[in-house]
Amino acid sequence: MKVTGAEFYKSFFKLTALPAPNLPEIAFAGRSNVGKSSLINKLLNYRGIAKTSSTPGRTQSINFILVNQNCFLVDLPGYGYAKVPLAIKKSWGQLIQGYLKERASLKLLVLIVDARRKANEEEKLFVQWLNLHNIAWVLVLTKTDKLKNAARARARREWQTFLDAVSVIEFSAVSGEGRDKLWRAIYTALQSPPAT
Ligand code: GTP
Ligand code: MG
Repeated sequence: MKVTGAEFYKSFFKLTALPAPNLPEIAFAGRSNVGKSSLINKLLNYRGIAKTSSTPGRTQSINFILVNQNCFLVDLPGYGYAKVPLAIKKSWGQLIQGYLKERASLKLLVLIVDARRKANEEEKLFVQWLNLHNIAWVLVLTKTDKLKNAARARARREWQTFLDAVSVIEFSAVSGEGRDKLWRAIYTALQSPPAT
């Protein structure tokens, strides 16, 4: 998919404030600090359109980025960061789950995990929840630039089996690896008919 225009649209802190679901949306979720915002920036070749930070848990709102005037990339708050107070964690969880469950215009959830992390129960539960709610998802292993080939192959096998993922996209916001493959998955999802 060729990106002809991308602009930061708006941040939302409440589900009731979201725009009418008139354009297809692709959402990005993963643990805090996993590299969600960096991945979106790399996809769009637009440094800084999705805010990145070295402080985990920085993205606390649902951030909409308008692409080609015809779809939204949605940067979700990171989940599961241990240092965030429980009350805040709960409200984030509700915000993310509410968004994913209710959003008629959501076409795909891009689940991002750190390729260096061991396959983890947290993602397993999330995937089970996505499947239960019939939300289409694709698995992306990011920060692959930090791994040697053997470790990376092991990570791919382990995560794919553990989550029963149809495919795995290996990605690096540093090298740009995986960018084309992820765009293809997004493009395919954008073409899919509306959910009934
Ligand atoms: P929150 O919004 O806080 O949940 O974080 P996030 O998931 O949006 O992560 P973000 O993109 O802010 O990146 C977190 C840190 O990881 C930053 O220091 C990035 O520079 C780094 N990072 C992200 N992607 C990559 C990658 O592919 N390779 C390497 N080496 N570092 C990365
Ligand atoms: Mg972020």
